Amino acid sequence: MKNIKYLKPLSPLQKGDDNMGVLENKGAIEYSKGLEGVIAALSSISAIDGEQGKLIYRGIPIEMLAKHSTYEETAYFLLYGELPTKSALDEFVAEMKELRYLPKRVEECILELPPNPHPMDILKVAVAHAGLYDPDQLESCREGVMRKVIRIIAEIPTIIAYYHRARTKQEIVPPNPNLGHAANFLYMLHGKEPDPEEARIFDIAMILHAEHGLNASTFAAMVTASTLSDINSAIVSAIGTLKGPLHGGANERVLKMLDEIGTPDRVEEYVKNALMEKRRIMGFGHRVYKTYDPRARILKQYAEKLSDKYGDRKWISIGEKIEEMMIRELGKKGIFPNVDFYSGIVYSFLGIPRDLFTPVFAMARSVGWAAHVCEYTQNNRIFRPRGYYTGPDYVEYIPIEQRR
Ligand SMILES: CC(C)(COP(=O)(O)OP(=O)(O)OC[C@H]1O[C@@H](n2cnc3c(N)ncnc32)[C@H](O)[C@@H]1OP(=O)(O)O)[C@@H](O)C(=O)NCCC(=O)NCCS
Repeated sequence: MKNIKYLKPLSPLQKGDDNMGVLENKGAIEYSKGLEGVIAALSSISAIDGEQGKLIYRGIPIEMLAKHSTYEETAYFLLYGELPTKSALDEFVAEMKELRYLPKRVEECILELPPNPHPMDILKVAVAHAGLYDPDQLESCREGVMRKVIRIIAEIPTIIAYYHRARTKQEIVPPNPNLGHAANFLYMLHGKEPDPEEARIFDIAMILHAEHGLNASTFAAMVTASTLSDINSAIVSAIGTLKGPLHGGANERVLKMLDEIGTPDRVEEYVKNALMEKRRIMGFGHRVYKTYDPRARILKQYAEKLSDKYGDRKWISIGEKIEEMMIRELGKKGIFPNVDFYSGIVYSFLGIPRDLFTPVFAMARSVGWAAHVCEYTQNNRIFRPRGYYTGPDYVEYIPIEQRR
């Protein structure tokens, strides 16, 4: 036993001392619970200034892209690293439109799936299934991998819309080649062309959700891809990770909370009780932003706009009251609204069912996942962190008959 050097603390960890420690045989090594603050990769895709509340995609502020760009152009920019020329964008848009159609067997399978599972689980299954029919499955050259990536990004909206139509016993609506990515999703979901202003708002929401550094789901995709697994497996890992309520699943829960509260005059009591009971208020707080999330600022404007358009200010007035109280109570701790707080109100007015909020997040974020996978694997190193062993050095094995 003597020669074995385990990576373990020099002395037992004290309560509340679980974010940093000194490791035996390695000198002073920091470890970070939840990898907070750890730089795990170099990337030129996006940057967040968590103190100032700024987000850039490859140098361009998110506000500028939301104002001037489209989801397709932003996707190209994130994937290829430069803004497309007019002809490059036309070609990219045409390719995305062409790849929207699902393989027949995948379409048939979606129609047969049970209506009750969470649509994020359906998305996981369908993306994995579609990968089996990918004609570029064995491609490993850059163009082949890019085609696979664009195919997945183009197929996800069709999977979500088809599943929703099937589970609600409505005819599926095939993609409309005259519509852009965001508008076509609303069309396939509702069976009618969306109002252009609403389609544009959805397009902007998609731009805002397209990329966000090494968040949990992107990191999950990168970890999978770093083993030189395939892109479908990486995206499936990311979908499973995004599903959780501490990540992409928060948007759905925000609307549930707004309904539970019911009226603005009940906010004070609800939030007070939640904080007293140490419950999280969904749509608040962020690992990186310690101020207002810039995406939430933009989405709030559209939540306001749609509330006025539909003459229904119930959700927004409750939301604003929660925001006011949370900033008053927890602003000093850096807790502010994040992207999920107002996105649900926007999606609700666009007629998107609540359990599709997170799949819609996945639909947008698939670009960020793919961009990071492509960037990281070009200069790949398998991810393999170490654990911090806190158990005993040696325990005698007791045969089962002698155990009590
Ligand atoms: C996003 C999130 C997981 C970030 O977590 P994190 O960086 O690990 O931050 P912590 O969990 O350490 O929280 C730090 C402190 O803020 C508090 N806090 C964080 N988010 C909070 C929230 N939404 N409501 C109430 N308190 C919150 C924590 O209780 C903790 O307080 P303490 O120091 O007194 O123990 C966290 O803010 C959260 O759970 N938010 C709600 C879910 C959500 O909206 N997710 C979407 C993210 S885009």
